[in-house]
Amino acid sequence: MKYQTQKIAYWFFATCMLLFSLQLVYGFIMGFAHMGFDGLHNIIPFNAARATHTNLLVVWLLTGFMGAAYYIIPEEADRELIHPKLAYVQLGALVAVGVVAIIGFHMNWWEGRKFLEIPRPLDYLVVADVLLFIYLIGGTIWKGKRYTTTSMVLFLGLLMAALLYLPGMINTDHQTLDSYWRWWVVHLWVEGVWELIMGAIMSFLLIKMTGVDREVIEKWLYIIVGFTFLSGILGTGHHYYYIGTPRYWLLVGGLFGALEPLAFLGFAIYAVAMARKGGKNPDNKMAMAWTMATAILSFVGAGFLGFAHTLPQVNLYTHGTLVTAMHGHLAFWGAYACLVLALIAYAMPKLTGRNLQDSRMNVFAFWTSNIGMIAMTLAFGVAGIAQVYLERKLGMDFLTVQKEVEVHFLGLVLAASLFSVGIVAYVWNFIRFGKPAGEVK
Ligand code: HEM
Ligand code: HEM
Ligand SMILES: [Fe+2]
Repeated sequence: MKYQTQKIAYWFFATCMLLFSLQLVYGFIMGFAHMGFDGLHNIIPFNAARATHTNLLVVWLLTGFMGAAYYIIPEEADRELIHPKLAYVQLGALVAVGVVAIIGFHMNWWEGRKFLEIPRPLDYLVVADVLLFIYLIGGTIWKGKRYTTTSMVLFLGLLMAALLYLPGMINTDHQTLDSYWRWWVVHLWVEGVWELIMGAIMSFLLIKMTGVDREVIEKWLYIIVGFTFLSGILGTGHHYYYIGTPRYWLLVGGLFGALEPLAFLGFAIYAVAMARKGGKNPDNKMAMAWTMATAILSFVGAGFLGFAHTLPQVNLYTHGTLVTAMHGHLAFWGAYACLVLALIAYAMPKLTGRNLQDSRMNVFAFWTSNIGMIAMTLAFGVAGIAQVYLERKLGMDFLTVQKEVEVHFLGLVLAASLFSVGIVAYVWNFIRFGKPAGEVK
């Protein structure tokens, strides 16, 4: 760690670990409910568990991105963070809003719009909190000694992510318009601006760990990420097929949606090629492993499994089924969860001065969680294909089909248990690192 204020990142990462663990608890509640064991139904009905599970996911990932920015920006800008105390206020406020939202979901205080369930009054607090964050990061870059491409792309990604939260707050009582704007947030985040954030964090990690010249890494990585970003904008159309929007979206969404995986593939090949080109034996093998997992699994989960249902002919049948959940899990895991875990793995030895990065516990965490998540994806996939066939092809009733696919959720819960053992090991290793050390190395 070069700058004292980078320490702030630790508290964001610790929050990540906590919220991530809690997310898994709600995953199990739903997994069991799908198996027919819905004993908690009266206290935590499925809809509340689902909203909590996905919102915790989004919040811990955003917390991870923020922590990443607090770690990366001082180093890239070559100066301490401005107003470090405000960064703690920003974290505290974010957590407070998150806690209130989660309690709200359990008391049926929610908006019922998938991924944007947070009630409106809390949205304004989120906006205020994010503005503070953008000010701290932007101000640090502004006053910094140097402007690097990586810090600029990271800042741009974070700023645009903040701006794209706003379309989700447009008031309308029309179902189609509501869906239309909802996708501006959901799709343009994960298949648009979050990719800029991913590109920047990956570039930082690759520059630090491979020894390849910054110029080489930055130039090509940003060209590829730029392509992903561009195909993703009109790719939004793959959510506008049959929701009451004009027919041209069938063509636009089909075409640009199909282009998106190519960009993800390019990104994966490039990142792996850079890692090999560097030929340097990284002193943090697990951070490198998580970085490669991000590159490869984002292609598999987002690119390959996204393609599986992006064409209108297929989406007509698969829309809103467990096929979507299959893709959602591996895409979020590969692209964004692995990314945050990679940066945490990289930063922890530097923040704490302890060398536990390649401990057996961490190696175990990496393999167990990744194999577990791949198995979970398969379980969702099998359940999803069965559901599509029975419900959409044979026309069976939704709830009858849910009963038919219960058996596949045994597989899901077993896979999720393996996955969770891996995550517990990761969190345990995180705790073993201890708090950040005071000295600057
Ligand atoms: C890292 C990137 C990605 C993430 C995190 C992600 C995640 C998700 C999630 C969570 C959903 C469900 C959203 C909802 O129903 O509200 C979804 C839907 C969808 N995704 Fe992705 N995705 C990514 C990339 C892609 C790509 C590259 C493609 C296309 C090639 C794609 C195609 C789709 C389609 C077609 C749907 C709609 C499914 C339906 O109609 O139910 N996704 N994605
Ligand atoms: C213990 C592990 C986990 C279990 C048992 C689990 C289980 C589930 C279940 C049962 C659903 C609801 C599916 C439905 O609508 O019927 C769900 C939704 C979801 N989970 Fe998980 N999950 C786990 C971990 C994760 C992780 C680690 C991620 C992200 C990296 C994740 C991302 C999601 C997303 C994005 C959705 C919404 C999917 C959609 O829109 O269709 N889950 N999960
Ligand atoms: Fe999309």
